[in-house]
Amino acid sequence: MTNWYTKAIFYELYPRAFADGNGDGWGDFIGLRQRLDYLEWLGVDCIWMTPVYPSPLRDDGYDVSSYYGIDPKYGLMEDFKLTVDEIHRRGMKIIMDLVVNHTSDLHPWFVEARRSKDSPLRDYYVWTHDPEKYKETRIIFLDTEESNWAYDELSGEYYWHRFYSSQPDLNYDNPKVHEEMLNILDFWLKFGIDGFRVDAVPYLYEREGTNCENLPETHDFIRKMRQFVDENYPGTLLLAEANQWPQDLLPYFGNNDEFHVAFHFPLMPRLYMALAKGDRTDVVNILADTPPIPDGCQWATFLRNHDELTLEMVTEEERQFMWDYYAPDMRQRLNLGIRRRLAPLMDNDRRKIELMHSLLLTLPGAPVLYYGDEIGMGDNIALEDRNGVRTPMQWNDSINGGFSVAPLENLYAPPVSGPDYGYGTVNVLVQEITPNSLLHRVRQMIHARKELDMLPRGALQWLDHLPNTLLCFWREDENGKFLALHNLVETEQTIELPTGYHFINVLDEDSAVGESITLGAYGFYWLLVS
Ligand code: GLC
Repeated sequence: MTNWYTKAIFYELYPRAFADGNGDGWGDFIGLRQRLDYLEWLGVDCIWMTPVYPSPLRDDGYDVSSYYGIDPKYGLMEDFKLTVDEIHRRGMKIIMDLVVNHTSDLHPWFVEARRSKDSPLRDYYVWTHDPEKYKETRIIFLDTEESNWAYDELSGEYYWHRFYSSQPDLNYDNPKVHEEMLNILDFWLKFGIDGFRVDAVPYLYEREGTNCENLPETHDFIRKMRQFVDENYPGTLLLAEANQWPQDLLPYFGNNDEFHVAFHFPLMPRLYMALAKGDRTDVVNILADTPPIPDGCQWATFLRNHDELTLEMVTEEERQFMWDYYAPDMRQRLNLGIRRRLAPLMDNDRRKIELMHSLLLTLPGAPVLYYGDEIGMGDNIALEDRNGVRTPMQWNDSINGGFSVAPLENLYAPPVSGPDYGYGTVNVLVQEITPNSLLHRVRQMIHARKELDMLPRGALQWLDHLPNTLLCFWREDENGKFLALHNLVETEQTIELPTGYHFINVLDEDSAVGESITLGAYGFYWLLVS
């Protein structure tokens, strides 16, 4: 059975960065509604919206100070509801971020928990006198945090946090916390949203003598969430953000009784490695190491997102290679990753940007695009942390790139400027009216993919007799057979096509396919067996 999410094209957008409808310098729901035509035209099936909850924004909304509201900068609740309805009216879906692992330190639960040790809210968080506890746990935000414990002056104990110290972890040993989370799910699902991207899932429990990740208790809680949505809101999608190795990711699907979809974190850096080395081996190996997933489940694949390009799921040697190759300037590095966007990572080389999109759209999984990458937006290294990849969407070459009519100094962040990536050069409008633009090419691939039913979950078979500089594979299921050819290097390469088939050149239907195909520099072909 194919569920909507199995074959969906996802589009991650930062509401603050997307479109400002009321001219205050912040993206909002009015702006988003005005731009839904664009997303529909592009072929997006499901929008993933990063957090819009009230928040002190020390982690850009992933530090939630109230789960039951919208930060007024984005609009009113009515606005939100209207937006959800508008998205549905166009046949698209929307999922929201659900931050389960932690709250902001300004959340009233934590404020009260600090104030009174007798409060029932004290036990919503994880406290200790002994900061040596759980010492086998790694630190995720290595650049800013020295410990997973932070001392609270007010109550004289340490509290546990896997991310910034301004984000205390919730205590899942407390059944009240489970109850709260299910109430929060219920609250948002009542608005008719289609699911959640569940943030930072592996870290819900702590146990001495473990690395405090992927614990069985965490899986128990996820099953509980899944049961809740299945019983009350059937069809709701739960998408896992678990930055883990494939064998640790598999349990997050359970028996299709945990998450429906999980991001394939280890595949992502290997797509970049394959291109950098001009060698398919890393991609082939990681997919060989990827176990089959239950029917009805799916991988979410991606090239970039709102965080740094994470290099947690590679070896130390591979990480060094990736850093040397893609982040030669130290400022481009952050934690164990690279804080750059797709186009700059590809040296703004159209051929490579298209090739990466082709890989994303033809390999197994449901592709998740990151706003702006479809037009080749750049990043801004001068902005701190991950803000450099969260700059305003570039709609046209008018003031602020058409993102906002507010004076520049009122914008939450300046739009990217300069001759290569500035909005004067890179914007939606100019690419809409230019038939051979990157945007049109990406859109063409998206729409072509929708007709190729074997792509989301069909079998994958490599053409392994070809040199490693080629990444070529069959995709096949009961709907048909498809051949994808990718040239990972600049040198032209000719491939003898498998005999006994009649192929259609999907991306250029008028051109006949002969017995062999020559792939130009970083070229690719999509061939459907007719
Ligand atoms: C996730 C989010 C990231 C955030 C972190 C802590 O990894 O993607 O942006 O900083 O969780 O909430």
